[in-house]
Amino acid sequence: MAIREVRKQGDPVLTKKAKLVEKFNDPLLEQLVEDMFETMYQAPGVGLAAPQVGISKRVLVADCGEEYGGPYVLINPKIIHSEGTQIGIEGCLSFPNLYGDVERAYKVIVKAQNLKGKWFKIEAEKLLSRCFQHEIDHLDGILFVDKATNLRELSPEEYKKERADKESQLVVS
Ligand code: NI
Repeated sequence: MAIREVRKQGDPVLTKKAKLVEKFNDPLLEQLVEDMFETMYQAPGVGLAAPQVGISKRVLVADCGEEYGGPYVLINPKIIHSEGTQIGIEGCLSFPNLYGDVERAYKVIVKAQNLKGKWFKIEAEKLLSRCFQHEIDHLDGILFVDKATNLRELSPEEYKKERADKESQLVVS
């Protein structure tokens, strides 16, 4: 496993539409996913999309903590159902110290493939739903700053305070 460099605001890979994964049972794909988890946990964040480590492929990883199950690997994910809305503070590992309020669906059902290419469906609510939506946006070259209102820079102390105030609504991915 290895920690990969997280691409930052302005890197053209972040605004490109990522390509479908077509090859499964692939050691390179497995290595990418392992490295993405290591990079995400080290950051730390709750989700990471492959373009954020410079790979323009439709792969995301997520781990929003025990109450949400996981960790999750979603390849070629598609939102097939969404309902309700939630507004919450969001950040992104590609935009250090920047946060904003983003409206997302409260609940989504996502269809995706696993590392072997098998399709599965997953239902997500609240933080995990927000995380999947944020990461799937990354795969389409859409960044949270495109959707956020009240964008603001927060110091680590201010971030901790907001996180304490709104734990269930905060995502950095
Ligand atoms: Ni992000």
